[in-house]
Amino acid sequence: MAKTVADGFFADSRIKEAKKLIQDALKEHQSQITGVKSGNPELKESYDQLLKKMAEYRGGALFYNYLGTGIGNGPLVELADGSVKYDFITGIGVHYMGHSHPGVIDAQINGAISNTVMNGHLQQNTDSAKLVELMSTQACKHGAEVKNVFLTTSGAMANENAFKMIYQKRYPAARFFAFEKCFSGRTLGMAWVTDKAAYRQGLPKTIDVDFIPFYDALDHQGSIDKAVYAMKKAITRFAGQHAGFIMELIQGENGSWVGNTEYFEALIKVCQENNISVFVDEVQTFARTHHLFAFQHFKLDKHVDVVSIGKNSQVCATLFKDDHKPKPGLMSQTFTGSSSQIAASNYVINEIVNGGYLGENGKIEKFHQHFKGNLEKIAKKHPEKLSGPFGIGAMVAMTVFNGDEAKSKNFTIKLFENGVLSFMAGSSPTRVRFLMPIMAVEMKHIDEVCAIIEKTLIELA
Ligand SMILES: Cc1ncc(COP(=O)(O)O)c(C=O)c1O
Repeated sequence: MAKTVADGFFADSRIKEAKKLIQDALKEHQSQITGVKSGNPELKESYDQLLKKMAEYRGGALFYNYLGTGIGNGPLVELADGSVKYDFITGIGVHYMGHSHPGVIDAQINGAISNTVMNGHLQQNTDSAKLVELMSTQACKHGAEVKNVFLTTSGAMANENAFKMIYQKRYPAARFFAFEKCFSGRTLGMAWVTDKAAYRQGLPKTIDVDFIPFYDALDHQGSIDKAVYAMKKAITRFAGQHAGFIMELIQGENGSWVGNTEYFEALIKVCQENNISVFVDEVQTFARTHHLFAFQHFKLDKHVDVVSIGKNSQVCATLFKDDHKPKPGLMSQTFTGSSSQIAASNYVINEIVNGGYLGENGKIEKFHQHFKGNLEKIAKKHPEKLSGPFGIGAMVAMTVFNGDEAKSKNFTIKLFENGVLSFMAGSSPTRVRFLMPIMAVEMKHIDEVCAIIEKTLIELA
């Protein structure tokens, strides 16, 4: 006998049967999506109209002529003009499981047939309790103490919440350290932390930030010395005024620039000597290295005070140590996420942890090596057109046409037309990057994507 009504409902054989029917139908229909396909000429006019309307109502054109139909097959996605493309940017790193993944759909159905569309901080279901436990235990697996988890709706909000708890703990210190060329989100606060002038043009100043040069692998010791010097100089200039340091350990939006343990440790030492909280922004790096968290990859477990996650996690969150617990009243939010999102998050994180993705011989590393190897071959054949690749794990980037911004943009658009979604990142040089749908990709997909990359480079020469 079921202990709750819900136990009975979710285990009802009719629900099981309905889900099976949905999965059967999905399998049958998605099996028609087998490879890159151009648009159907009969749909062109209506598709163009739809894009035009979208641009009008949105207040600006989309970067790509991309409107999906709602179905895909692994890394392949169908667009409303009938075309099929490889999604190697995954909504800027969100659709880790590709398109129409049966496990994710199954989890989402559980969410969809539960009582409410959204969960919030006042009322949430048991799935949220499971999710915070999962995030917490995984984060603290190797000695980190960020056991508290506050769910939220976006990466920027996860960062805002991190800033709030750090400010409150370090009051009245109000300055922050961040890395040059970092990206932290689009809120009024994060616009001043993100090191890109265009993203805050016309906005009132919200946060005083001192930017520290990021790690340079070509000048290991020199870049450590420069960064430590810059930090100490700012601390002398603004004595006692720094509350925290937001660290992106692998700079994603800047083009997959990878940091270094010794470099981070040198900066963290300065933080610890000056009561400055160490906050790692993992919105983009979560589940991209051999470890679930990049701070685990760089072995910074003992040093992190606050960590934010997003994108791959499906539900965003701020994780923090006991000594950073905010006082009552500082933080809340109507929504934490939709019921389907929370169910999907539980599924995706469990799958990453238990499905053979992590570790030195895990799928993430294998796919990275394969993709990297293919790109290296192209770079060897066309050194004037492609250099790199760069990045780590599921974050792969390359430079085309010497990192020229206009040519890189042109390349990504042409690549899209040829059937592969990528995106630009960083400036001087601009890179082209890929955030693979690791849970859906196979070696043959990477080979095909690389063949399209090479074809596109040749066409643009
Ligand atoms: C490192 C980092 N932090 C924060 C954000 C902001 O996340 P969201 O766009 O979900 O607000 C991003 C988004 O790209 C990011 O890459």
